[in-house]
Amino acid sequence: MPASTGPADTAPVSTGQPVALEGILEEDVLVRVEHVTKHFPVRAGGLIRRTVGQVQAVDDVSLVIPRGKTLGLVGETGSGKSTLARCVAGLVPVTSGRVIFDGRDVTNLSRRAMRPVRRDVQMIFQDPYSSLNPRRRVGAIIGDPFAIHRTATGGERKRRIQELMERVGLNPEHYNRFPAEFSGGQRQRIGVARALALRPKLIICDEPVSALDVSIQAQVLNLLADLQQDYGLTYLFIAHDLEVVRHVSDSVAVMYLGRIGELGPRDDVYDTPRHPYTAALLSAAPAADPDTAAARQRIILTGDVPSPIDPPSGCRFHPRCPKARPLCSEQEPQLEPRLGDAPTHVAACHFPVEAGEDLAAAAPARSEVS
Ligand SMILES: Nc1ncnc2c1ncn2[C@@H]1O[C@H](COP(=O)(O)OP(=O)(O)OP(=O)(O)O)[C@@H](O)[C@H]1O
Ligand code: SF4
Ligand SMILES: [Mg+2]
Repeated sequence: MPASTGPADTAPVSTGQPVALEGILEEDVLVRVEHVTKHFPVRAGGLIRRTVGQVQAVDDVSLVIPRGKTLGLVGETGSGKSTLARCVAGLVPVTSGRVIFDGRDVTNLSRRAMRPVRRDVQMIFQDPYSSLNPRRRVGAIIGDPFAIHRTATGGERKRRIQELMERVGLNPEHYNRFPAEFSGGQRQRIGVARALALRPKLIICDEPVSALDVSIQAQVLNLLADLQQDYGLTYLFIAHDLEVVRHVSDSVAVMYLGRIGELGPRDDVYDTPRHPYTAALLSAAPAADPDTAAARQRIILTGDVPSPIDPPSGCRFHPRCPKARPLCSEQEPQLEPRLGDAPTHVAACHFPVEAGEDLAAAAPARSEVS
């Protein structure tokens, strides 16, 4: 079942608008991101380097992930997805805002204080090969978390590693092999086994299947779904591929230039996208259903993604938006329910897309129909 998203009525979303968490109790929320901003300084100069600007990688993002559910995070390259994930995992300090994990404020904790949280939050990356040391045996690689957190030693560790290998579909007898002896899909299973070792509560999957063949993608996605069921895992799932996100997510957040443009239960966002950027992304994605494919008019966005160092005024999407009007560059749109949508489906757009609207025809000068 798609889950509701958006902060509880006690916590405003990024724009200060309250958005109810319909039917979700506070104790059922595992991750709460409140107004998180992450800027990276841009430095220039010779010997004495000074800060000449800020990369606004993530800007005032608020969202929640209910326990046992999957939040899909989509957006073009550079929109801030991985940075947001790293803020949630505590891998980079946030510039402002708060991250609440399992009811506890974990914002910018010291390494030591973060240690128990690290066990509960694991990551799986796009390219498992680059994160697997080629000179170490997979048994040792999968067993790293046990060693780091000193939870199992000797024969007990080996037994648990082999159990994990079996659970993720690897042959436990391959314990002594090296990463190069495994296929791409098997290597991703090694990454999954390592992430699973300490029985985390949250797994952040950053493009986990993007580098794999389509047939292998499905196997890894099915494995992730099985593990979620068996262990009650919660996922933050990042992907470019909208069909993959649709397949795995209960709710979806669409990012553009560091901000959330649209957020809501999966089917609401896919069936009635309100933000023109969401509509454009969906129009470009191959639809599994031929009727949907035929009904979709492809909206080609013109222009490059602007720099996050100097983002556009008002709505950050306005230089590329087929529906842009003067107000869009003057006033930042609020992230709120549009056109009578449920309180859990919010979009940051002054002129939201209506059901059946031909967006490609909205401003022919800015978009092309193919
Ligand atoms: N350590 C860093 N220092 C400076 N800028 C950074 C750093 N990490 C990320 N950025 C910048 O922040 C912005 C967001 O990057 P991020 O990697 O989060 O995007 P992304 O949505 O994950 O992109 P992709 O889909 O390509 O993985 C980009 O402009 C990027 O160049
Ligand atoms: S606010 Fe304006 S520019 Fe931004 S997405 Fe909506 S219509 Fe487009
Ligand atoms: Mg990324």
